[in-house]
Amino acid sequence: MTLQATFKPIGEIVTPYKTLADCPRNIDPNGPQCELILRDELHDGLLGLAAGQRILILYWLEHADRSAIHQNSRRTGELAGVFALRTPNRPNPIGAAVLAIEQIIDGVITVRGLDCLDGTPLLDIKPAMSGE
Ligand SMILES: C[S@@+](CC[C@H](N)C(=O)[O-])C[C@H]1O[C@@H](n2cnc3c(N)ncnc32)[C@H](O)[C@@H]1O
Repeated sequence: MTLQATFKPIGEIVTPYKTLADCPRNIDPNGPQCELILRDELHDGLLGLAAGQRILILYWLEHADRSAIHQNSRRTGELAGVFALRTPNRPNPIGAAVLAIEQIIDGVITVRGLDCLDGTPLLDIKPAMSGE
């Protein structure tokens, strides 16, 4: 297959975590405040979003091992394919999280409890569907 896809991040994520070892294993809606900082020319894309709404956030886990195809589950210890796991180590290391908006000011969305490194590229934001 010769399919290709390119991404231009829509912004970056500010978290308290400066090393991978500092990052929590996954999101925690009660965790520390984090910010989604959008590129200036994309601020208008936030029209219609509001505090309290839940959003799906997609981000690029740029330091992941993209050659991984299976690994031992941290939860069960059993070997599993990467598509059966939430591991960052996968061919396209896209992280996903559903979190509530705390506030939006000047193109900056405040949320709580992301699990990624400070400066992680932000790929997309969508309203969360019920069940996500
Ligand atoms: C298990 S993944 C889950 C990501 C997302 N919540 C998901 O479910 O898709 C979270 C882990 O990714 C790793 N990580 C965080 N930021 C990263 C980055 N920028 N590059 C590579 N790995 C990262 C950290 O080890 C963190 O504990």
